[in-house]
Amino acid sequence: MAETGLTLQELDTPALVIDLDIMERNIASMAEYCRARGVRLRPHIKTHKVPEIARIQLAAGAVGVTVAKLGEAEVMADAGVRDLFVANQIIGEAKLKRLVALARRCTVTVLADSAEGIRQLGEAVLAAGLRLDVCLELNIAHPEGREGRCGAPPGPEAIRLAQAIHEHPALSFAGILGFRGIPRLFSRDAPAPGMEELRETGREEGRLLTEFAALLEANGIPCPQVIGGSTPTACFVADVPGITEVHPGEYVFSGGTHVGMGMSSVDGCALSVVTTVISRPHPDRAVVDGGSKTFAGDMHPALVPNLKLSGFGLIAALNGPYALPGLLPGAELAALNEEHGMIRLGSDAARAAAVGTRLRIIPNHVCPVVNLFDRVYAVRGERVEQVWTIAARGKLT
Ligand SMILES: Cc1ncc(COP(=O)(O)O)c(C=O)c1O
Repeated sequence: MAETGLTLQELDTPALVIDLDIMERNIASMAEYCRARGVRLRPHIKTHKVPEIARIQLAAGAVGVTVAKLGEAEVMADAGVRDLFVANQIIGEAKLKRLVALARRCTVTVLADSAEGIRQLGEAVLAAGLRLDVCLELNIAHPEGREGRCGAPPGPEAIRLAQAIHEHPALSFAGILGFRGIPRLFSRDAPAPGMEELRETGREEGRLLTEFAALLEANGIPCPQVIGGSTPTACFVADVPGITEVHPGEYVFSGGTHVGMGMSSVDGCALSVVTTVISRPHPDRAVVDGGSKTFAGDMHPALVPNLKLSGFGLIAALNGPYALPGLLPGAELAALNEEHGMIRLGSDAARAAAVGTRLRIIPNHVCPVVNLFDRVYAVRGERVEQVWTIAARGKLT
């Protein structure tokens, strides 16, 4: 690609950029952590949506990848990834057809949490003459979190569902998956969850999952995989004996929320958006060329007040003393219009950002920002080493 070899100063903006040294470090350290504990690592690729990054994760020891959508799975399969975990409920004829086609060319595992879901999966797979690995999704969401969504509560009904999968002639019961979430992340009047709380949550997630796996075994249902763990908790979940697999996603890049929780430093954040100051309409305001089409708004300080986030991301200069891993003091991406980002300038250093200055912004929540771009520049230091298509972006189905 023609842009390979360009510097960050030369790229057209807004440009999505991955610092390869940092990403490779993040991938290697999670892989090593899991390897040391004999726990399988299956990264969730909804964070990066890039087959080339999935390959780096697989080369580092991942057993396969996790996806949220069939469309993401299809992109990964087309790119040669052969072991896919679709961490979602697959309901309806259109999706079942695609699932069967996928299962013909890859090893696929899916989730189920209802008798109807199991019936639909079973019929489709039986008719196709295949067998399918199915995990039961458990709802073990923290009562003070916001992660409660799909999943059967770990009780008698969940045992019946596991039994139904286990006894089905075309389905193999592959285990259980649960996701505890983070307590009080979205609470208005509670302190931010810190490392101690994340450790506690991760261990609790592991305990709830392994206890239910033991209950299944006691009921004569072998439970091969016991799966949990997102980025904030994955290491703590992996520490729990009996956990066999973890599915962190964001660890590959980290972001402003992880810095806010104290679990990453700025120099562990691999993803940023390079923007250009296009206007200085007021001494205390700069406008950059990225707005709501560039930055996601789901992790704004107003939504997660206890994380003490500063605007829509962490802002650094491109060069000089305030370049990453430093930050530009007093600069806050305070408001977004579609094409414009309004930066409040609260220090002399920030007010020095003249028209034409480039600013590098680490998003609070990286996954939805990646989803807004067609491609990403993988840089080593200042220079673009590779340009990757974000092939699994925008996959709604
Ligand atoms: C089931 C499941 N596992 C793992 C993850 C990965 O979470 P994170 O990106 O925080 O690592 C998610 C994220 O939404 C998820 O839904």
